Amino acid sequence: MKDSIKVFAPATIANVVCGFDVLGLAVDAPGDEVIMRRKQTPGITISKITGDDGRLPLDPSKNTVSASVQHYLQHIGRTDLGLDIELHKRMPIGSGLGSSSASTVAGLFAVNSLMDDLLTPTELIPFAMKGEELACGYGHADNVAPALLGGFVLIRSYDPLDIIKLPNPKELHCAIVFPEVDVPTRDARRMIRSKVLLKDAVTQWGNVAGLVSGLFMNDLELVGRSMEDVLVEPTRSILIPDFYKMRELALENGALGFGISGSGPSVFAFTRDAETAQKITNTIQKHLSSIQIGSQAYVSPVNENGPKVIS
Ligand code: HSE
Repeated sequence: MKDSIKVFAPATIANVVCGFDVLGLAVDAPGDEVIMRRKQTPGITISKITGDDGRLPLDPSKNTVSASVQHYLQHIGRTDLGLDIELHKRMPIGSGLGSSSASTVAGLFAVNSLMDDLLTPTELIPFAMKGEELACGYGHADNVAPALLGGFVLIRSYDPLDIIKLPNPKELHCAIVFPEVDVPTRDARRMIRSKVLLKDAVTQWGNVAGLVSGLFMNDLELVGRSMEDVLVEPTRSILIPDFYKMRELALENGALGFGISGSGPSVFAFTRDAETAQKITNTIQKHLSSIQIGSQAYVSPVNENGPKVIS
């Protein structure tokens, strides 16, 4: 059994526009890193967090990484173990890019690797969902499942949990822009209507089925035109500066489709290549700076493999 390990886990784009809580994908960059070391005394400690501007709790019962690792240790009957955690945030918090999930997944992957891969990545998903519950009040899986499994993931059912990995068209790239305004997932979930009209539900499930079919058929035009959300986006877009202008710019510059990443404020577009994705992020960032909004941008293919051991 190894004494220490360093793991990277990827950021994720939950919902993929039309699939609220049921679709998600992982990207190659950005992502978070966790260093986990065994220690003599039982229990979990967090000795260091960097890149969070002091926003995340060092208290192991309140931090999503340590709390989900604790659930894992209880499950495998190893609460006698002593573990120290260092978390290095390499992505913005509250951005809609699955920041808490990347940290949690890196921690769970690290402890499971120290335990000689006792559980499969799919079996780790319920423990990661506990972390999401702590972070935003609801244990949704559309960030943690793709962060653990890589690629595109469909959560067909939550009870019982039924998770399906979808095909990943090779050319697909993501153009991601994070406008630097704060949108906590907890608040962005509270503002959604809990009742929907049947005609909107029909539009929405047509799009979910269209997007999934597009992935299976490698039909990127179909994927793009299925990126429509009539249930959640009309409300959440209010929190995102110039959301509809950003969509217009993305589509004018060759995006297949465009929408909110997770609960926002990040937005993303799918493209056929990295060059088009770069052009879109440049154009959107230029627009945001013209309205005095700072931003960060990422261009990435879809991440195929989920977390990786760095050392
Ligand atoms: N499905 C979740 C939501 C993802 O939209 O609230 C949060 O990142």
